[in-house]
Amino acid sequence: MHVNTPPLGWNTWNTFAANINEQLIMESADAMVETGLLGAGYTYLVIDDIWHLKERGKDGRMVPDPEKFPHGMKYVADYVHSKGLKFGMYSCAGYMTCAGYPASYDYEWLDAQTFAEWGVDFLKYDFCFHPMTVRPDTLYKRMGLALANCGRDILFSACSWGSENSKMWIKETGADMWRSTGDIFDTWESIKELAQSQLKYQEYNGKGCFNDMDMLVVGMNGKGNVGLKGCTKEEYRTHFSLWALLNSPLMIGCDIRNMDADTKEILLNREVLKINQDPKGCQPFFANNNMWRVNENRKSDVEPHFMNYPLEVPIIAKYLDNGDIALGVFNFMDTPANRWHMTVTCDNLGLPRNCSKTFECVDVWTGEVIKAFNDTLSLDEIAPHACRLFRVRIVDK
Ligand code: GLA
Repeated sequence: MHVNTPPLGWNTWNTFAANINEQLIMESADAMVETGLLGAGYTYLVIDDIWHLKERGKDGRMVPDPEKFPHGMKYVADYVHSKGLKFGMYSCAGYMTCAGYPASYDYEWLDAQTFAEWGVDFLKYDFCFHPMTVRPDTLYKRMGLALANCGRDILFSACSWGSENSKMWIKETGADMWRSTGDIFDTWESIKELAQSQLKYQEYNGKGCFNDMDMLVVGMNGKGNVGLKGCTKEEYRTHFSLWALLNSPLMIGCDIRNMDADTKEILLNREVLKINQDPKGCQPFFANNNMWRVNENRKSDVEPHFMNYPLEVPIIAKYLDNGDIALGVFNFMDTPANRWHMTVTCDNLGLPRNCSKTFECVDVWTGEVIKAFNDTLSLDEIAPHACRLFRVRIVDK
């Protein structure tokens, strides 16, 4: 698999966990087409844990739960494919999945072959109950190699939660994306914690293997498996903007059969998706005014490079293929952010000072255009937990 842009799709876990079946999958496949998600680029429909029986069959293969999937998985995969979607499934590098169902340790090649026969295009591969006697990289290499030899192009979505220093070895395993975080919950605190924890991993992020910040909670509104207390629309917008700008795969986790207007507006924002899916796949970088500290830290190999970074109002930029710059300002504080927090100077974006250029900043959420001449972009207040996300065009004065 050659993954040039972060994979987009939908996964059962955040809302449904064990409550999955053929009907849900088929209805969700229909919804992906009817709501325009597929048209916007969300291609993968992924069944997470608890799809199978507690015991393998006599032939050693994993067995789909016949109550949930009475026609088996090939049938489901064929339906998903008939809608123009790609089909994903889930296993784990240990003896059992995180929910205690059979997993692929010592069955890697048989399971890869089985998934290929069923028509699977994407495998999420978890890390629970793994043997302590085998190195973590070896566990992922085993499945990476089995998939590469299974005769089908299957995207390898590694899910070791960033543990065991995964960032250093995960690309060796053939992974196409890697979970760089623990599990998300549908609260502002969880979004904030995950986002802040990721700022220092950007040098590992990019084409071929993207940092996966976990599935989206946009539109869950407190319902479902990881529901908890839910978030405001503004918080969901900040969440989506961050995941998009930080090149994370965007795997939707709400019930897509019943999305409200706010949820659709966020998930289907084409300009935000374009930033995430930019063909150049550049690493995001930090454009806060005290950026020099980052560069100081970069002189040494001691991590984390972003140790001194202002985590409360990060300003994050990413170069785009056509010469534009995506620029996000995120207010993690519980109080408004002001000009003091939010001044962006042209040299922080990589432009010479006094270069006689104008940044023309189009707010991708509101359409508002802000122009900044020559030097400094100063934003007015940003509400607590809110953000601004721009596409910046550089034009002559
Ligand atoms: C782990 C993963 C989750 C989900 C569950 C399933 O916690 O990180 O994303 O797949 O297992 O049991």
